Amino acid sequence: MGFKDKHECWCGSGEPYETCHKNFDKKLNEFKKKKCILPPKKLIKNKKQIEGIREASKINTMILDAVEKQICVGMTTEQIDQIVMSETKKLGGIPACLGYEGFPKSVCTSVNGVVCHGIPSKKVVLREGDIVNVDCTTIVNGYYGDSSRMFKIGKVSDNANKLVNVTKECLDLAVSKIKPYSHLGDIGYWVSKHARENGYSVVKELGGHGVGLEMHEDPFVSHLGKLGQGMILVPGMVFTIEPMINEGRAGVLIDENDGWTIYTEDGSLSAQWEYTLLMTETGLEILAK
Ligand code: MF3
Ligand code: CO
Ligand code: CO
Repeated sequence: MGFKDKHECWCGSGEPYETCHKNFDKKLNEFKKKKCILPPKKLIKNKKQIEGIREASKINTMILDAVEKQICVGMTTEQIDQIVMSETKKLGGIPACLGYEGFPKSVCTSVNGVVCHGIPSKKVVLREGDIVNVDCTTIVNGYYGDSSRMFKIGKVSDNANKLVNVTKECLDLAVSKIKPYSHLGDIGYWVSKHARENGYSVVKELGGHGVGLEMHEDPFVSHLGKLGQGMILVPGMVFTIEPMINEGRAGVLIDENDGWTIYTEDGSLSAQWEYTLLMTETGLEILAK
């Protein structure tokens, strides 16, 4: 190691530590003295990584835009998979879900009482009144973007409409409340507060996650939590918030046959929205939506 190497920042930017993360480390040290839990350094992305994740997230957003334009009554969830597949290719990405731990399709499509990880199928036809989550993750130049949206098929019931809207409000509320050096638990606090105020329950077994260099990184982002608890969220962290909110009880079941599909235990409706988020010096920036 030469003289220059010794002064290179730990973030991998290649820049001198003094002008890169030195002040950042000073700030974090203040929180450490206050007994806060700090994120491990590997969760702090450098500028180049952030630009890569930004690009993957932009393309992921464009893929969901294409789904949004075409989704309609009578379409099968298999056709949604085909839209994602062809759009991803066209935009120069790779569908991250395809083959992930054996997942057989390019995207997750979760209809009505399916909470998440629904497998696209020719047998699942979208009917008037359905609500469906399309959850897409894309790899571009090795970087990952991950987001999901709800779609209302034709005219939906007032109940379904409210569940979809309130779930998005849960996500947007958390995004607006979380600032640099907020705690991980604050996310779950704001999400669950808004869900419960509307009479809904929050799925606890699944959550958001760090993302960017892999599909799933630390930390696990629970949608239940207490203010001031858990790791602090610092500039350079990239993670998802993706609340799964049930109309009825919070309990979920996994499909024993396919090993993927997660249902509500009581058969009630479930909704989910997801963003990929970057913590900046001023707050959360939405990278993928
Ligand atoms: N996109 C999902 C998430 O938000 C994960 C997809 S699971 C897979 O974490 F198996 F479909 F890849
Ligand atoms: Co996702
Ligand atoms: Co995710």
